[in-house]
Amino acid sequence: MEIGIIGAGDFAQAFAKRALKAGHNVKLSNSRGPDSLREIVNRLGPGLMAATKEEAAACEIVLLAVPWDNVPETLASLPKWKNQILIDGTNPFHGKARNFTLANVGNLSTSQLIAALAPGARVVKALNNMIVPNLEADPVVNGARRVAFISADDDNAKKRVQILLEGFGYSVIDLGNLRDGGPL
Ligand SMILES: NC(=O)c1ccc[n+]([C@@H]2O[C@H](COP(=O)([O-])OP(=O)(O)OC[C@H]3O[C@@H](n4cnc5c(N)ncnc54)[C@H](OP(=O)(O)O)[C@@H]3O)[C@@H](O)[C@H]2O)c1
Repeated sequence: MEIGIIGAGDFAQAFAKRALKAGHNVKLSNSRGPDSLREIVNRLGPGLMAATKEEAAACEIVLLAVPWDNVPETLASLPKWKNQILIDGTNPFHGKARNFTLANVGNLSTSQLIAALAPGARVVKALNNMIVPNLEADPVVNGARRVAFISADDDNAKKRVQILLEGFGYSVIDLGNLRDGGPL
């Protein structure tokens, strides 16, 4: 499968490595354009391509991996979604890790908010709680598979992401729709 990633930081790269390992092709993008991604592409190797945000977002499955404060501008800058699956890997934090404050998202779950900002995309919340060292580590720990939680309003999209994550090696637990999965 061809997977697009919006964002090319620590989380995006750890996800890309997992996807490459599972045999997928990955289009990685950031805010500064493909030329700025050359070193990462060389380091991560075959199967990874530096792309524009638009090219990454055109893939059948797209991971959103930008800081929370950049989410609105990022989604607003993309072309109209045409039913692609958008995996929301974000967390509602202002600032950087270890020095962040929680963002106020009102009555919606964070992924409901993302879905409202990306009309036409089928949003699946996944992997946001999987910190980079865990994502980079072997999915099998002491003979047991690490757990990945998912939630979505679109059952078909959720199933596709479940199959993707099982292909990475995870045991996937369905937390229901975006409303219920958010607080969980
Ligand atoms: N780090 C973790 O352990 C972890 C685990 C799970 C989930 N997450 C979530 O994943 C998200 C990213 O975290 P991170 O640690 O990977 O952050 P990071 O290392 O700071 O990387 C952020 C990336 O977002 C890109 N970006 C920012 N604005 C953009 C835009 N408008 N268009 C395209 N790309 C844009 C940046 O590209 P430029 O440099 O070109 O601006 C950069 O590549 C956050 O929501 C975080 O909560 C993180």
